[in-house]
Amino acid sequence: MIYLDHAATTPPDATVVRAVADCMASAWHNPGAAYSASEAARRILRLARQTVAGMLNARPQEVLFTASGTEGNNQALTLAKGGHAIVGAVEHASVLKAARRHAGEVTVIPPDGNGRTQPEAVERALRPDTRLICVQYANNETGALQPVAEIGALARSRRVPFLCDAVQAFGKAPIDVRALNVDLLTLSAHKLYGPRGAGCLFVRQGLPLTPLIDGGGQEFGLRSGTENVPAIEGMRVAAELAASDMEARAEREKALAAGFLARLRALVPSCRLLAENAPRLPGVMALLLSGLQSEQAVADLDLMGIQVSAGAACSARSEHVSHVYRAMGLEEKDARCVIRVSLGRENTSEEMAIAAAAIAKVYGKRCEQSDNF
Ligand SMILES: Cc1ncc(COP(=O)(O)O)c(C=O)c1O
Repeated sequence: MIYLDHAATTPPDATVVRAVADCMASAWHNPGAAYSASEAARRILRLARQTVAGMLNARPQEVLFTASGTEGNNQALTLAKGGHAIVGAVEHASVLKAARRHAGEVTVIPPDGNGRTQPEAVERALRPDTRLICVQYANNETGALQPVAEIGALARSRRVPFLCDAVQAFGKAPIDVRALNVDLLTLSAHKLYGPRGAGCLFVRQGLPLTPLIDGGGQEFGLRSGTENVPAIEGMRVAAELAASDMEARAEREKALAAGFLARLRALVPSCRLLAENAPRLPGVMALLLSGLQSEQAVADLDLMGIQVSAGAACSARSEHVSHVYRAMGLEEKDARCVIRVSLGRENTSEEMAIAAAAIAKVYGKRCEQSDNF
């Protein structure tokens, strides 16, 4: 098996699995309990909060643990309640849908041809009643890095809060919430070799969010429910591991991706890399193979032991065409012919060579079969 769908989720690191299991066995008490045995759970929670806060240049009291990136985005969007929100068209569904649910009115900003939401377009959309600007750090379908620093500066100068969904970028790019002028930022552990069930929402102190979940008042009253201490511990360990080899990993992925693309292009010259001219996460590649339906390509590659996706994991099994590729100007017929190949730290150049040859084979087979190719 060659796993090339790391933007969907990542295989949990063995160290993380051990840390989660140890925590479940030894620190299972409720961290909110008053007796001394629960101190171990409280300590783990405290350390995780300090660690994540330190990585983001945030204060520990600004770090709220959630169960997922989706939850963090939904929680953050409560700030737009009843008002006007500005949202990039290439945002994750959890941002786009939560904006429609919570904001009174939403302006959706189309990206440029490289899938980037431009600050000038955000500026034009600003209104006196704008409550929130939402632009992600890196796109999950193309890898395109968004102009987050510029949009943060704009948001700050106009005193409009700024939500940045950094789910795909955390652990791959340095993130400093103060330097970026970000007011809300979301993370998810399972994208960085951590467990499912742990995420984080940075909330700049003083922002009036409305809790999505009411109850015992955990997480500063914003996220009730007994804390998932083992998953949060897993997130801390995963984040530390990611931080320890971030630059080396980026270089490695860049080289792997370059080798893969060169091979693929030699075999399928018509293959197009979307967002090619944008600054990108090198390990996330959206490949347009005109005429080859992505569902078919994914199924054929699966039979050959190669796992890629037909866009975002959450929509890969639905009939919907990717809103990201459509927003970037692709016609529907082409938007149905994009596969996403996303690399991880266990991939090798041998695997990438096999994958390039397999994609070329699948493409060639479809060319032969199809009259209208
Ligand atoms: C950019 C982005 N935001 C949010 C999410 C949702 O994260 P989670 O799976 O933790 O809910 C994803 C997951 O694919 C994502 O890629």
